[in-house]
Amino acid sequence: MRAVMVNEPGGPEVMRIAADLPLPEPKPNEVRIRVAYAGLNFFDVLQRSGRYLRKPKYPTVLGGEISGIVDQAGDSVNHLSPGQPVCALTGSSGGYAEYAVAEADAVIPLPHAMPLKLAAAYPLQVLTAWGVLNVSAKAHHPGEWVLVHAAAGGVGTILCQLARDAGNLVIATAGTDEKCAHAKKHGAQWAINYKTEAWPQRVREITGGHGVDIICDSVGKETQTGNMRAIANFGRVVIFGYASGEPKYDMNVLWGRSAGITTYGLYHHVLHETITKRSIRETLPRVINGELKLPVGGIYPLEQVAQAHEALEGRQTIGKLLLEIDGNLRSERRQ
Ligand SMILES: NC(=O)c1ccc[n+]([C@@H]2O[C@H](COP(=O)([O-])OP(=O)(O)OC[C@H]3O[C@@H](n4cnc5c(N)ncnc54)[C@H](OP(=O)(O)O)[C@@H]3O)[C@@H](O)[C@H]2O)c1
Repeated sequence: MRAVMVNEPGGPEVMRIAADLPLPEPKPNEVRIRVAYAGLNFFDVLQRSGRYLRKPKYPTVLGGEISGIVDQAGDSVNHLSPGQPVCALTGSSGGYAEYAVAEADAVIPLPHAMPLKLAAAYPLQVLTAWGVLNVSAKAHHPGEWVLVHAAAGGVGTILCQLARDAGNLVIATAGTDEKCAHAKKHGAQWAINYKTEAWPQRVREITGGHGVDIICDSVGKETQTGNMRAIANFGRVVIFGYASGEPKYDMNVLWGRSAGITTYGLYHHVLHETITKRSIRETLPRVINGELKLPVGGIYPLEQVAQAHEALEGRQTIGKLLLEIDGNLRSERRQ
């Protein structure tokens, strides 16, 4: 099978398309999936470049999220069978390939009517956004101010919608006017272009001096100082990524606002059965009925994976990016 391999960490040029890899064999609790689309995530950039918290074992096949059709179920898997449309989290590797394996618990069965393109945009970023807000930020108080950084990105676009739909007042930051317009179209009531405006001051103005109660932050180092100017007393900052480098928060500065800092990892979310089931129950039907939008900002063929990574780490993308592996998969099965 074909797959995108990385033999050693580095820039986009280290990705190679291997043409003749053996099909991965599912263990008893796993499922092998014929892949239609793989989701492209900033996480993959970190894996490729060796900057992620947990380093992968090289050589590795990149990709943590796919949609497709079940090809083979392991011996102890009873609820999934060949031919079933699914999306899945493949862990930290294996998704950029014609076939991938996933643990059965990380495979989400789909209705036949759901397009596999939309399905590939679902699990990693939607569950992350849901978990950041509901588990880590404990955004259970409608009317609170929520600040979303990188708000036009894959996760950011969903955070803005979920926070708005929960009754919060949403302020977005992003790096271009076009990105700000995208965030406003998807749930943010206010959007600040941080390249042209001093965003912490602007947050204070918008909130009438109160500051924001929740900050959803995947940027890290570059937003750390501003976050402490923008946070409300008793506010909480959720760090769920650090695209610009690791932030170092000072306890005294946090205490100066009685503010809390917390983190979020999808890895822990999917280990928790109740949280996982609830997050899927509260989001998947809304994606299927179109209430929760997953705008796709680019679909790249496997051969153009390097261009996709360049765009993603070059901050040029809006919404979700996909790798098309076999876009005809579903229609072939229906004939
Ligand atoms: N904790 C978890 O389990 C988990 C799960 C999924 C994703 N994440 C994290 O969530 C973040 C968003 O992921 P995504 O896939 O949806 O990506 P994305 O937001 O679509 O793309 C990254 C965006 O981050 C902003 N950014 C700020 N500083 C940057 C820098 N130094 N380099 C590159 N981009 C920078 C850019 O937006 P602007 O131009 O607006 O600045 C860029 O477009 C990533 O940090 C990712 O690692 C964490």
